[in-house]
Amino acid sequence: MAPPPEISRAVDVLRAGGLIALPTETVYGLGADASNDLAVRRIFAVKGRPSSHPLIVHLPSVERAREWTLGLGEAGEKLARAFWPGALTLIVKRNATVSDAVTGGQDTVGLRVPSHPLALELLRAFGGGIAAPSANRFGKVSPTTAQHVRDELGSDVDLVLDGGPSQVGVESTIVDLTHQPPRLLRPGGISREAIEAVLGAPLTLVTHATDVRAPGLLESHYAPRAGLWLVTAEALHDEAQRRLATGARVVVLAPASVPVPAGVVRLEVPEGDAGFAQVLYARLREADALGDLILAVPPPESGLGLAVRDRLQRAAAPRPG
Ligand code: TXA
Ligand code: MG
Repeated sequence: MAPPPEISRAVDVLRAGGLIALPTETVYGLGADASNDLAVRRIFAVKGRPSSHPLIVHLPSVERAREWTLGLGEAGEKLARAFWPGALTLIVKRNATVSDAVTGGQDTVGLRVPSHPLALELLRAFGGGIAAPSANRFGKVSPTTAQHVRDELGSDVDLVLDGGPSQVGVESTIVDLTHQPPRLLRPGGISREAIEAVLGAPLTLVTHATDVRAPGLLESHYAPRAGLWLVTAEALHDEAQRRLATGARVVVLAPASVPVPAGVVRLEVPEGDAGFAQVLYARLREADALGDLILAVPPPESGLGLAVRDRLQRAAAPRPG
């Protein structure tokens, strides 16, 4: 069966070396043909991202993913079987044909089979790998709707595929399988607990940029324009009042159960970790539009709470310059 017209158009853009925005279950990606160096370099230019920071290659199946590697290895095969298609990126030794433009010259490559039906349909129709970071400018909040991408990238992207709001809402979990034991480079849409259960062993947690070149590991990242502060549910009321007294427009990101003083704008988030993850980036964008400063109450660390806390901490980190 011929693919729908929008998919055919997207495939044409990719084959011509253009950039597309594609929906995934985690966040929207800014995609290019992973085997076309010029197209891949355009991604870095549009994002304003240092070229030494590698991109994730998206593929339609485990079989196709293996072709980019020297083998997924036992742990990789297990994790792929359990979580692909889905919000997990595996870092493995790359095959010699994988371009330096994608990997930042490293001998490893990040691979993911996304589960969004439109992304899978596009990947199958295209046939190759699609290199795609999140479709935002470097250091900014990731997009979870097609409109977020249009607002932020405008005509810098040749075509935006609209697949509705991203269901997971935070980026994929990144597991580095080139180290023993495997390392958790970025908490994300698949919980640490679920991965450790499949591996039957704990992951090493990497929290600060060391030898790893991953933008998500820089302190300030995922940052809105307005200043962001993290507070406990108990401290929120007094802290909000103190900020209000300075004349600031205060936005609070917290579940309905947390009391807030009159005069703040409350943006509600669901009580559960997965619900919080789903709305996190959209709420940060709304908060940016409504206030001068944002007070957020992070969820507990379990499940997707680890990823939400990680993104909030980086959004709250001191900004360079
Ligand atoms: O959910 C996601 O992962 C989204 C969607 C679009 O798939 N993509 C995404 O890409 O978040 P990006 O580029 O914003 O973040 C990918 C992270 C970066 O921190 C990058 O440095 C890291 O993955 N990465 C990619 N390849 C790597 C490698 N070979 N070694 C270490 N880190 C790698
Ligand atoms: Mg990103």
